[in-house]
Amino acid sequence: MAPSAEKKIVVLGTGGTIAGTAASAGDNIGYTAAQVGVAQLLDAIPALPTVLAGHALLTEQVAQIDSKDMSVAVWQQLAGRVAHWLTQPGVQGIIVTHGTDTLEETAYFLQALLDPPKPVVLTCAMRPATAVAPDGPQNLLDAIAVARCPGARGVVAVCAGTLHGALEVQKVHPYQVNAFSSGDAGPIGYVEEGRLRLLRDWPKAPTGQIPIAIETVVNATHWPRVEIVMNYAGASGAVVQALVAQGVQGLVVAATGNGTLHHDLQDALLAAQRAGVRVVRASRCPNGRVLAQPGDPIADSQGLSAVKARVALMLALMQPP
Ligand code: SIN
Repeated sequence: MAPSAEKKIVVLGTGGTIAGTAASAGDNIGYTAAQVGVAQLLDAIPALPTVLAGHALLTEQVAQIDSKDMSVAVWQQLAGRVAHWLTQPGVQGIIVTHGTDTLEETAYFLQALLDPPKPVVLTCAMRPATAVAPDGPQNLLDAIAVARCPGARGVVAVCAGTLHGALEVQKVHPYQVNAFSSGDAGPIGYVEEGRLRLLRDWPKAPTGQIPIAIETVVNATHWPRVEIVMNYAGASGAVVQALVAQGVQGLVVAATGNGTLHHDLQDALLAAQRAGVRVVRASRCPNGRVLAQPGDPIADSQGLSAVKARVALMLALMQPP
């Protein structure tokens, strides 16, 4: 079917293992991420025209990085391009190719900032493009199926046939192809032979979040400094005290269990809070959330993991007074 000028899917490349190459096809770990351009990745997929079902495909290389090196500058660039394409006539959905390592943070960032009325689908791979059996091509085809699905909205991640929401998605395995989980919320659905089987609703704006203008975030020359500390056996307040001395503006603590903290770490965090640092408590447990109690001295992360709570706190601190 000839591509229709009216219906478009935009694919923004940022790098990752999906664009990685290794010296030998049998090597799934000794590769270099972010080597192949996004247009070249798509050109190499034989089934592409069938899955596009008449949609035109536009590609843009926004960045070419290993996502462990994700930076504020790349997030600003990416958010600007996603926001641009969301407003263009005929664009049905946007796909972002991304490394798996920080995909969950980018997903949360884009959802919290843009709450897009169209699907913004992050996809990735655990095997490089040169692997004997790369997973990237199927993940891209599944992402296209989601991006052109009528009624789809919000930021989602597609990996290994599973559709996760931006608020819940978490990388849970360092090697297996099915590396992501939505914890006890469960996935939004599955992509099976190009069809979606939805289990629950599309992502919405995070609860309690005050919307922030995209220009404020994209044009900011400095983002607030927010760091993550962790509670563990034998934790102390030393790291918190050092960060406060350096002028940190926000701290997220990955607390044990239901938000519990070693008393030395808690004392240091409360002192930081009294000194004007915003402090938020997440649980380091991969499932569930901190169940807050009246009178808790430190705010909880509203179910967000520590890395996502950090993004939420940076955005909150960027709100104009
Ligand atoms: C990355 O996050 O860019 C490298 C690892 C991966 O994509 O699996």
